[in-house]
Amino acid sequence: MSGPETANGHRRVLYVIACGSPLARHVGRLVDLAQREGWAVCVVTTPDGAKFVDRTELARQTGHPVRTHYKNPGDLDVLPPADAMLVCPATVNTINKWAVGITDTLALGLLIEAQGMGVPIAAVPYTNEAMAAHPAFRASLDRLGQWGVRVVFGDHVVRLHPPGTGERRADAFPWDAGLAALRGADRPVAPVG
Ligand SMILES: Cc1cc2nc3c(=O)[nH]c(=O)nc-3n(C[C@H](O)[C@H](O)[C@H](O)COP(=O)(O)O)c2cc1C
Repeated sequence: MSGPETANGHRRVLYVIACGSPLARHVGRLVDLAQREGWAVCVVTTPDGAKFVDRTELARQTGHPVRTHYKNPGDLDVLPPADAMLVCPATVNTINKWAVGITDTLALGLLIEAQGMGVPIAAVPYTNEAMAAHPAFRASLDRLGQWGVRVVFGDHVVRLHPPGTGERRADAFPWDAGLAALRGADRPVAPVG
């Protein structure tokens, strides 16, 4: 299958970043779809995202360790550099912190650095209707969108659910939506500023 490749024929690297939502339990489905599109995939989780994923299975599936925390000074990088990033599921917490430039998790540090380097990034928030109603969340999505982040959000993607029902609705999630937003993302976006 043809897929995202660099000029020298290597597979392009996609970082899938999973935040603290029950949807993250099923992120292996996204990994599978991305690999079928030709991406080499690495999974990064937030510390809360780590509570939901099966690290061993994802490491087996991707061939790379799942990273969650910043490395220690002097440690070598264990992941190849990213050609694109996809935050899915993206929590309200991570979206809001990202929009104001906070880097207190590895996931946020990677995103904010990648954004500054013009790496294509898509974000697919998953949350309930109560959390999504907070005005800061909408403002953060708008800001990220204005800066070139491909924000995939709204009823056309997945309908907001009542609090406490996110786990039940995970089966209906359209895992392809974030990947579709990255198709054609061969050109870097202009860095912010
Ligand atoms: C069981 C459970 C389910 C949650 N589901 C979501 C969710 O779907 N979306 C969301 O934005 N936050 C959800 N949260 C809240 C986040 O996990 C919380 O805000 C956390 O600080 C997110 O951290 P992170 O953004 O670093 O992953 C959930 C929390 C729990 C305990």
